[in-house]
Amino acid sequence: MKLAPSLLSADFSALLEEARSVEPYVDLFHWDVMDGHFVPNLTFGPPVVNALRDRVTLPFDIHLMIDHPAEYAAKFRIRPDDLIVFHVESSDPAGEVITTIREHGARVGISLRPGTPLCALDPHLDAVSSVLVMSVEPGFGGQAFLPDALDRIRALRAMLAGRPVDIAVDGGIHPGNAAAVLEAGADILIAGSAIFRADDRVRAIRSFREAAR
Ligand code: DX5
Ligand code: ZN
Repeated sequence: MKLAPSLLSADFSALLEEARSVEPYVDLFHWDVMDGHFVPNLTFGPPVVNALRDRVTLPFDIHLMIDHPAEYAAKFRIRPDDLIVFHVESSDPAGEVITTIREHGARVGISLRPGTPLCALDPHLDAVSSVLVMSVEPGFGGQAFLPDALDRIRALRAMLAGRPVDIAVDGGIHPGNAAAVLEAGADILIAGSAIFRADDRVRAIRSFREAAR
């Protein structure tokens, strides 16, 4: 299991300290970029994400919940291990977004809302490094995990048919459901409130690791 804390639930007035508080214990940092159009919320964009790129060493997992990923993807300062994830429902043609992200030098992830049929991913599965399955409606942290996601993860694992594509799951993940999500076929768990809102973050992360065993 790889664990990716979502900085959406961190204290924005101290992002660097927040990131560093968990960096030794986790695998990558998840950034929720929202534009107020694709989702009814606004967060941060390239200037904020880029400001931390050289201040922490773990890879970035940049989750673009925006209408025009092809326009903005190349504005992120990335390293070769970083992942830029776009939504198949965004306004830009997926093939164009994939080319833009790849030419920019990042790994490519594709995501989909809970109500989007998995077959929407079909034409793109040979071109991406990961699929991000949303287990809540994108837009806000702290929502409850939608149990239908488990069947979707299983179905996606079957669809991938041995391709080297990671499955990441995002929304409502906590130590109590981590084992079920992993057992369904997930490789990467994204967790915001379960880590940053925990009284003891390191203990919360340890609970994830124990659940994975
Ligand atoms: C929601 C975001 C998630 C969010 C998860 O739109 O994509 O990454 O931060 O937060 P929790 O873990 O609190 O559900
Ligand atoms: Zn996210």
